[in-house]
This record gives sequence, structure tokens and C-alpha cells, in this order.
Amino acid sequence: MPSVLTLTFSPCIDKSTTVPELIPSKKLKCSQPELDPGGGGINVARAIKKLGGMATAVYPAGGYTGKAFNALLAKENIPVIIVESANDTRENIVILEEKTSKQYRFNMPATPLSENEWKECLQAVENSKDVEFIVASGSLPPGVPDDIYARLAIIARTKKAKFVVDTSGEALKQAAKEGVYLLKPNLGELSSLVNSNHYLQENEIEAVAKQVITRGNCEVLVVSMGDKGAMLFTSDLMKKIVPPPVEVKSTVGAGDSMVAGIVYALSTGKSLETALEYGVAAGTAATLHPGTELCSKIETERLLAVIHTGETY
Ligand SMILES: Nc1ncnc2c1ncn2[C@@H]1O[C@H](COP(=O)(O)OP(=O)(O)OP(=O)(O)O)[C@@H](O)[C@H]1O
Ligand SMILES: [Mg+2]
Repeated sequence: MPSVLTLTFSPCIDKSTTVPELIPSKKLKCSQPELDPGGGGINVARAIKKLGGMATAVYPAGGYTGKAFNALLAKENIPVIIVESANDTRENIVILEEKTSKQYRFNMPATPLSENEWKECLQAVENSKDVEFIVASGSLPPGVPDDIYARLAIIARTKKAKFVVDTSGEALKQAAKEGVYLLKPNLGELSSLVNSNHYLQENEIEAVAKQVITRGNCEVLVVSMGDKGAMLFTSDLMKKIVPPPVEVKSTVGAGDSMVAGIVYALSTGKSLETALEYGVAAGTAATLHPGTELCSKIETERLLAVIHTGETY
């Protein structure tokens, strides 16, 4: 019986390879490509697994790329609920140019979903038993309505599950309007959630967070601030965690690892304060590796210890 479900409407395969040099017109010899399954909720489920927990990933998949995607998750032993989609699962290309060590990311258009397909995804969540946390993360592909996470908020409420949302734009606004358990915006996402006419500064966050909580958008608000860490707010709690300085290789997947850290900690009975520490540690752990690599448990726990002692990493 799954107790954590993650939902991803726009999953993708990241196909990474290297070339000595990117030269136009010439046939370039690529290294053996590495395939990684990606997309917000997929990454959260994978990162929860890495941290020692278990989450079931609900997602649409189609075509031969969908089959390859499913096989990648099976290899990582991630429990899944797959909704068959008519269109092929998206495949993105990541090319590392050896000469410059520069990485080029080519993102293909998102795979459109039909009404039946996204409704089947919602149904899969509705049908799941004993769900403690539902995590919705990532952007929405064409065909999926902006109020999808608001609809999920209602489903979560009827299931008495805690709904965690990490998204942006209109989808975030509509979810917040319905009211969810936990929102994890970064500063840009928070600015647009409250219709701020400027990018919010750190000293403005507290007042804005209180407003978000008072108007019932969420019970818990975690505002992430990149290398400055994150702040957590509830109606009677405020806590800030700053990670130690680290040598950052790539920030891709930091947000997803942070959400995974928070949900993993909460699902194992930890307090909100501890969950914030775990989230910051997991987010920062994800930055220690190049490419799309997520947090490892060892590095997350080392960072957690450093956060407690205030030592350097
Ligand atoms: N440059 C960095 N140095 C150290 N830690 C970082 C850095 N960037 C991100 N992190 C860690 O990851 C967490 C989440 O990062 P961030 O605030 O950038 O989220 P995000 O904008 O949602 O990221 P994403 O682009 O992955 O969605 C931070 O709170 C921090 O713990
Ligand atoms: Mg993010």
C-alpha cells in the first residue's frame, strides 16, 4: 500500500552524451548515451528512494520512449502506476562538449495529454489506498488544465492525505486558491503567486508568507532560496536553514531533491523543523554532482550533520 504518491504529468527521458567539440555540419562522434528518467514527481520519487524511503510514481507514458522510460524506473525499483498515453514520452538531449566542459540542454516540446489521459491520472490517485502524502511536481503539458493541482487538492482532502505542491505560474495559483498542505515555491514562484510587481527580496518574505498562510493557501510554506537555503512558515512557526558553502557542480534537481527530503522526513514521523533541515541538506546534496544527478543519502546526512554543528563541509 503506497503511503507517498508522486504525480508527474510531463515525464521525460534525459539522454546525455559527450562530444569532443560541437561543430556544425560535421558528423560528431558521441559517447555511449546515458538515459535518466526525469520530470518533477519522478525525480521526487527517485530521490525519496535514494534517501531510504519509498514513493509510488503516477505518470503517463506512451510509445517506444514510454517503454524505455518504464524500464528505467523498473531498474531503480521505483513502484509505479502508469497511465498509457497515445503520444510518445518526451526525450530531451543533454550534450557535454569536452573541449569547453560546457553542457548544452535541448528540451523537446512536452507530450500533450488528452482529457481522458489526465483524468485517468487523477483516477489513479483517487483509487489508491492508505495514501499519507501526495506530491505534485512539475510543469503541465498541453491539454492539461491549469486547475489540475486544484482538482488534486480536493481529491487529497477527501482521502485525508497531505498534498505537497511544487509548481509555478497559473497551476500554482489555482492550487493555492483551493488550499493545500505544503507549497514549496522558490523566490520567483512566490513573487508571482502573490502578484508582486517585483522579484521579492529575502527581507520581504516573512510578511508575504504570513499573508499566504492567513488566506489559507497552505498550512506549511517552504520558500527555497538557492545557496541561501530555505525558510519554513506555518501559522505559529518560522525557521530558516542556510546550507554550508559547497562546491556546486550542477543545481539541476536541487528543488526536487529538497521536496524529497522534506516529504521523506515527514513520512518517517519527523517534525517540520527537522524536515526543513533534511530538505535543505538533500537540495544542497544534489548540487554536489554534475548533470541531473539527485541527492545521495550519505551526502545528505553529512550535510545534515554540518547544518547542526555549523562546521564547514
Ligand atoms: N547554489 C547552491 N548552493 C547550495 N545549495 C543549493 C544551491 N542551489 C540550490 N541549493 C539547495 O537546493 C534547495 C532548493 O534550491 P532552489 O531554491 O534553487 O530551488 P528551485 O528554484 O525550486 O530549484 P529547481 O530549479 O531545481 O526547481 C535550496 O534550498 C538549497 O538547499
Ligand atoms: Mg523548483
